[in-house]
Amino acid sequence: MKGMKQEPLRITDIKDLCAWYEKVKRPLPWRDTGDPYHVWISEIMLQQTRIEAVKDKYVHFIRELPDIPSLAECEDDRLMRLWEGLGYYSRARSLKKCAAVLMQEYGGRLPADYNALLKLPGIGPYTAGAIASIAFHLPCPAVDGNVLRILARMSGCEDDIRNDKTRKELSGMLADAYTDGTDPALVNQGLMELGQTVCVPNGAPHCTECVWNASCRACHDSSTDRIPFRSSLKKRKIVERTLLIIRDGESFLLHRRPQKGLLAGLYEFPGTDSFLTRSDALREAEKLSLKPLRIKVLPSSRHVFTHLEWHMKAYEITVEEISSLPDDSYVRAEKKELAGMAVPSAFRTYTDWYSLRDQTS
Ligand code: ADE
Repeated sequence: MKGMKQEPLRITDIKDLCAWYEKVKRPLPWRDTGDPYHVWISEIMLQQTRIEAVKDKYVHFIRELPDIPSLAECEDDRLMRLWEGLGYYSRARSLKKCAAVLMQEYGGRLPADYNALLKLPGIGPYTAGAIASIAFHLPCPAVDGNVLRILARMSGCEDDIRNDKTRKELSGMLADAYTDGTDPALVNQGLMELGQTVCVPNGAPHCTECVWNASCRACHDSSTDRIPFRSSLKKRKIVERTLLIIRDGESFLLHRRPQKGLLAGLYEFPGTDSFLTRSDALREAEKLSLKPLRIKVLPSSRHVFTHLEWHMKAYEITVEEISSLPDDSYVRAEKKELAGMAVPSAFRTYTDWYSLRDQTS
């Protein structure tokens, strides 16, 4: 159905969802901790990153930085290393910024208040709702793509879920969800669990196993294949890059990216935003005042960001010696030092190629 006003979910369905969640929930490391710091860190890590990729990183992060004061004081490079593999490094920077605000303005604690959470660095409506409900049991919705999909199917809504109006209408279905003694932590985590394990984003939903199948319009109408409807996104921009992996014996030349923009302030292998031939690549190395001895082609790789994709060619260029550096945005790093530096996962193919990653992080 298009353009319909959606009815709120029934409280009996909400209670069934909570009971189902308590019975089947997966033992994820951030579940049932009751510690707002743990809830916050897990929610930030889970933005745009898969649960499986987050689990071990989360445990390691909490072990290394067990509370808000330790996060506020963490050196940037160490923080970036703890974040390595999770991508979208601005999230880690916002975490530290937010920890500093919490130390200054909230006595080192997260506020138990949705609107106050929303004003903190790196915390948007979804995350504020997730923290408020899971950590503080406040009646706040946390509506992401998973929850929108469930709500659209429950109501049979065929409107475009990229549309703000549609999202608002669907979110309104949770108006009565936090009444009558339901625990907002269970309601919201129940919705997350349902969206991840039953009403799944890819492929057919597992309607026969769904606690809500008797109330679900799309299940009743067999329309789960067209609901939710999402108009297509603009294509990602493709950037063709060439990486120059310049080494002399055990040392590599690295470049620090500018403090603003994509992967700000992180180390990368030097390169160009174009595909280079071998001879062009050698010329680039010479421009960096280096004397190439050998050049070798390395495997190509791709890295997908939200709005763009890097398609990367790479050459290993062995030089006589990395003696003087082109400017102070370059560093010479020995293999063993490199293992401890913040090199983004976009370059993983090459850090793995040389076993340059610290295997513990
Ligand atoms: N996705 C976002 N937040 C989550 C959470 N707390 N548990 C499981 N998946 C999530």
